[in-house]
Amino acid sequence: MAAITLDRPPNATGAAAPRCGLARSRLRELALLAGQPGILSLAGGLPAPELIPRSAYARALQDVLAAEDTALQYGRPCEPLRERIVELLRERGVDCAPADVLLTSGAQQALSLAAQLLLEPGDQVLMEEHVYTGLRQAVLPHRPSILTVRTDLDTGMDVDGAWRLLAGGARPAFVYAIADTHNPCGVRLGHEQRARLVALAQRYGVPIVEDDSYGLLHYDRDPLPALRALDPDWVICAGTFSKIIAPALRLGWLVLPPRLVAAAGVLKEAADLECSALTQRAVARLLEQRFAGHLERIRAGYRGRRNAMLAALRDHFPEGTRWTHPPGGFFVWVELPRRLDGDRVCEEALAEARVAVVPGSAFAATAPAPGNHLRLSFASCAPDDIRTAVARLGRLLERRLTHG
Ligand SMILES: Cc1ncc(COP(=O)(O)O)c(C=O)c1O
Repeated sequence: MAAITLDRPPNATGAAAPRCGLARSRLRELALLAGQPGILSLAGGLPAPELIPRSAYARALQDVLAAEDTALQYGRPCEPLRERIVELLRERGVDCAPADVLLTSGAQQALSLAAQLLLEPGDQVLMEEHVYTGLRQAVLPHRPSILTVRTDLDTGMDVDGAWRLLAGGARPAFVYAIADTHNPCGVRLGHEQRARLVALAQRYGVPIVEDDSYGLLHYDRDPLPALRALDPDWVICAGTFSKIIAPALRLGWLVLPPRLVAAAGVLKEAADLECSALTQRAVARLLEQRFAGHLERIRAGYRGRRNAMLAALRDHFPEGTRWTHPPGGFFVWVELPRRLDGDRVCEEALAEARVAVVPGSAFAATAPAPGNHLRLSFASCAPDDIRTAVARLGRLLERRLTHG
């Protein structure tokens, strides 16, 4: 659990070199390969095209353009949209006011703004060993030291490990956490561990940046409240419409304690002034029209895909392989037998099985190291394609285990 400083790569010198070691995302490169004809992709975190409400959104856009003559102007944040977000967050157990909600260009910008708000050069950030790659990109420009804790495949983030680090003197500028439907691991934090994580923030005065991007996509009967529901002072919560409506809206939010709202607003203005007025208003209209029905429909769609993937894994993956059982979100995390290398399996899966998956090493919080994990997404393929892809992967793994 040593601290590692994210630094510039050895060849990054001179004025034209990136300032902070920002490399091209391996995930984006893989997404390009996965888009080739004939490839079944379990790689990306893209919502299913059939579950994106295209016609309803087209109608909402037309209505706004016809009725609101300032829809294509600069403007103030759309109040009805912030009110609808407050209502959605109530489903997550979060009680906040529209004034606490900063509209952002997706959860990615929300995370970048949180990093700018909280990080000074040389600070520490605490996260899990396998982390959403966009968080790494958001903190990289500040060149922090990264402290990591493990993720348990059954119980999620090792909160006790975080307590040990802070009790030992570590003082991260913030803790990054996905309590629900983790990307990449597909786990969630239990009730008790949520309370312990929030207690840690309170005890040491360390804010938590909660990434709740998948919080509304739960598929079983007992969703748990967001961390923000447990403490509005120490938890800053990022969310998004990318997964529940469409990524192309580039619309999300950051819910902040009142003391941070004004500063975050200035950072948002410096980044891109504001989110598109047209998009804000069209999304507000969409949310006013039977949105609960839409959420139920997409949850049912993803539940079916998740179940198809879990059944196919049981049927086709060799003994010695373990995987998570996500209660929501898009991803299953697979742990291969130790002698298989995740990167190599991914290369062979693409070349031989024509299936794209992401190696766990792509999510390493610090320097990528070889490992025996894969991330599989069940979101963008239809159930039949999921079964075919998992069966092909299973045959590949059997061959590797038998013949090396
Ligand atoms: C965990 C997590 N956070 C944040 C994001 C960023 O989402 P967006 O910027 O599209 O809202 C993603 C996207 O895949 C994600 O998986």
